[in-house]
Amino acid sequence: MFQQLTSLPPDPLLGIAVAYRQDTNPKKVDLGVGVYKTEDGNTPILTSVSKSLQILLDSEDSKSYIQARGNQAFLDGMEKLVLGANNPLLTSGRVESVQAPGGTGSLKLGFELIKRGNPNAKIWVSDPTWANHVALIKSTGLATEAYPYYDKANSKLKADEMLSTLAELGPNDVVLLHGCCHNPTGEDITPELWTKIADLAVEKGFVPFIDIAYQGFGADLETDVAGVRELVSKVPEALIVTSCSKNFGLYRERTGLITTISETPVSAGIALTHVLNIAREIYSMPPSYGGAAVGILLADDALTTEWKTELAEMCGRMRNLRALLVDKLHERNVEKDFSFINNQNGMFTFLGINPEQVQQIRDEYAIYMAGSSRINIAGISNSNVDYIADAVAAVL
Ligand code: LMR
Repeated sequence: MFQQLTSLPPDPLLGIAVAYRQDTNPKKVDLGVGVYKTEDGNTPILTSVSKSLQILLDSEDSKSYIQARGNQAFLDGMEKLVLGANNPLLTSGRVESVQAPGGTGSLKLGFELIKRGNPNAKIWVSDPTWANHVALIKSTGLATEAYPYYDKANSKLKADEMLSTLAELGPNDVVLLHGCCHNPTGEDITPELWTKIADLAVEKGFVPFIDIAYQGFGADLETDVAGVRELVSKVPEALIVTSCSKNFGLYRERTGLITTISETPVSAGIALTHVLNIAREIYSMPPSYGGAAVGILLADDALTTEWKTELAEMCGRMRNLRALLVDKLHERNVEKDFSFINNQNGMFTFLGINPEQVQQIRDEYAIYMAGSSRINIAGISNSNVDYIADAVAAVL
């Protein structure tokens, strides 16, 4: 059986981490996979999360299965975090959430749910989007197409083109949107654009599917999801996937959830039975550890305050690194204006160099980034920023 298989190339993002690890160049720099790093290049456990994990370890008295939909404190806390504690949706009976293994596992549940609801649905993704979005949609057997999003040559949003495309859609369409800190471009939907997308969704009947993997990495926890909240307050149906990998630093604990917003409490209950059934068919029930820790953290005011401070620190550091990189590039008198990097949000930006230049930087400087020229801002540090700027200036 296995003789019939042929080898696949490495994953476009995870493969970078493997190549970086194997590189023996002492000056190597990892700007690849989206993982937060400190000035020393470490990805520490947040103190607030560490304390929550300790509380969990001290209090957990069984390793029996948790309920299929996940940890209730986690689900309640995360719904409030994303939708806002006083959002009337939370008491409407129209919202149901299920914990799943990370953002990826949650996305898979969402796409499978769409397939059950409408096998002919087409999923529209931003051009470009996170590479795994397309892979997940295709693995579910759904059709997918891209809507215009980012003008790579001019490093700006293609807002008008995006709206024109969305204006042609209808009830068979699902539009996948990045809630904030767009991956890979860093270019976010503006508040005005969120309003227009929401109005179009209501008018045309397409279903918004929002992926939130970086809440708190853009401006702050509230501002980052203001557009999402406006959108879901207007539409009859939506899906939201939320990951705790980045903002809680729980990458390896695979902690995420899918939230469905349905037109009525009855259809919400029905959708929930399907999400649980899909999860049962794939992995039965979610891992406990990460969700339980976030549930403890969000139910505790002191831990939540501490976490918010740590999150704001990570966010502030990435903002400073953006400004530092822009300054260092301009100091080298490169022709290209990189100031757009300062106006973007989150972990990523496109340098806007071509794949050959990306490869040249990797070969000559051992600086690793995605082939698209996406860089992880958090991989920059005060000690490597000059080296990075030298490399970019050299290939330009
Ligand atoms: C990324 O985009 O680098 C991260 O979301 C990690 C991943 O799984 O791709």
